[in-house]
Amino acid sequence: MSDQTTTMSTEKKVHGTVAEFTSVDTLLAACRRIRDAGYTKTDAFTPFPVHGIDSALGIKPTVLPWIVLVCGLTGTMTALVMQIWMNGIDYKYIISGKPFISLPAFIPVAFELTILFASFGTFFGMWILNGLPKFSNPVFTDPRFDRVTDDRFFLYIDAKDAQYDQSGVEKLLGDTGSEYIQTVVEDDSEAKVPRFLFSTWVAVVALSIIPLLIVLKMRVTNSPSPRFHVFYDMDFSPSKDAQQSTTLFADARAMRPDVPGTVARGQLDMNFRTGIDMDALAALDSNRAQQLVRLLDEPTDGEAGESDAAEASSEEAQPSVMDTTPWLDDNPVGVSKETLLRGQKYFGIYCSVCHGMNGGGNGLVNRRAQKILAATWVPPSSLHDPTLYDDKYPDGKLFSTISNGIRKMPGYASQIKAEDRWAIVAYVRALQKSQNASFDLVPADKVEELKKKQAEVKEALKKQAEAEAEAAQKK
Ligand code: HEC
Repeated sequence: MSDQTTTMSTEKKVHGTVAEFTSVDTLLAACRRIRDAGYTKTDAFTPFPVHGIDSALGIKPTVLPWIVLVCGLTGTMTALVMQIWMNGIDYKYIISGKPFISLPAFIPVAFELTILFASFGTFFGMWILNGLPKFSNPVFTDPRFDRVTDDRFFLYIDAKDAQYDQSGVEKLLGDTGSEYIQTVVEDDSEAKVPRFLFSTWVAVVALSIIPLLIVLKMRVTNSPSPRFHVFYDMDFSPSKDAQQSTTLFADARAMRPDVPGTVARGQLDMNFRTGIDMDALAALDSNRAQQLVRLLDEPTDGEAGESDAAEASSEEAQPSVMDTTPWLDDNPVGVSKETLLRGQKYFGIYCSVCHGMNGGGNGLVNRRAQKILAATWVPPSSLHDPTLYDDKYPDGKLFSTISNGIRKMPGYASQIKAEDRWAIVAYVRALQKSQNASFDLVPADKVEELKKKQAEVKEALKKQAEAEAEAAQKK
């Protein structure tokens, strides 16, 4: 029987040798001898912390603090770079008048990330350095080793040590006064998960599904009783839709007008908002420039009396603005396909009703007004009048006409955003070109195609004119 066990154990892989001691002093003495004999892959197991055992075994201090330091500094840098990028570069936003890059303001986040990264470093670094997770250690196979948590001290020499030699190690450990020396072999006990663990796990999973099922049922069934509010969140938010009233402000309006005397961020560019080169205007007539800025900042939907005054002043001011005004010659949004498509869209929505889809001046409103108001109606201008071409009528002036209106035409500043007004300007220019462009502008390979189309359109227009004349005669 005993023979059989020895043969069996020699077949198994040897992991090292373990020796039992009964007191701290004998253990420490043994540790020192092992260390002095040059063994490095060693470990001691004790039921309580034993001071001085590290140096007795020759264990070097851990590198974990360095890992933690690097992780912590990485956290600090991550926080600083992240905040500098977000607050100072990507989305500049003034908060309490602080500079965009304000180190004191970055401290809380930097502190938090330093701690977070450092604790991750500590936690995972400790696991990795200790070779964890490890579900079993071969020394646990020896029942005597259980006493390590009670009243025994063990010293272990790993077989991976360069000097390891089974009989030599046993002799050395015997010399240190150990009464129990055992070779640690592979653990070949059953590797199955115990049944009770498995059934517990199944039970936990099954139970955890129940809350989900309850939520699911709640989502698909109706109930006459009011909602059960755990978190109020924004269920009763005072937010308003457009044009609604509110008790929050004295004037009961939920939509707030611009604050007088302020300019919204992104609208600082006066040239963009007026179509006038404001620096040049200020040099010519600083009063006029200041008056314009003031007018722009006035809330457009102020009290009735006020807005009348603003209108009157802008009307009487207009003649003096014209002609001497240093209008912008170039469209500040630039001309691209997108701008033109946008301009076309807004021209179709706002301008075509009067000026017609082609800008000729004969929109639906005009046709109707000719019938019912013939005597007093001022027809919309044809945008193809040569006095409206960009050599005589700069882009800035056209922008101003759209924004403030002119004579009988109302202004559209309150309805169309400045960008879109500039897009309309670009589109009106394209419309004007479309009516008297020369073939020099057309790429050579498209000329033939275009000439054919032109002939077709001319033919169609002629037919239409004939039909209209005939209809008129019949009347
Ligand atoms: C309600 C009808 C109406 C709408 C809408 C309208 N206009 Fe006019 N527009 C007129 C009338 C009327 C005139 C001529 C005013 C006059 O001579 O008293 C005019 C004149 C013009 C002029 C000539 C200005 C000048 O200095 O002689 C331009 C340019 C112009 N409109 C562009 C536009 C653009 C661009 C839009 C779209 C944003 C637009 N209009 C929308 C009625 C309209």
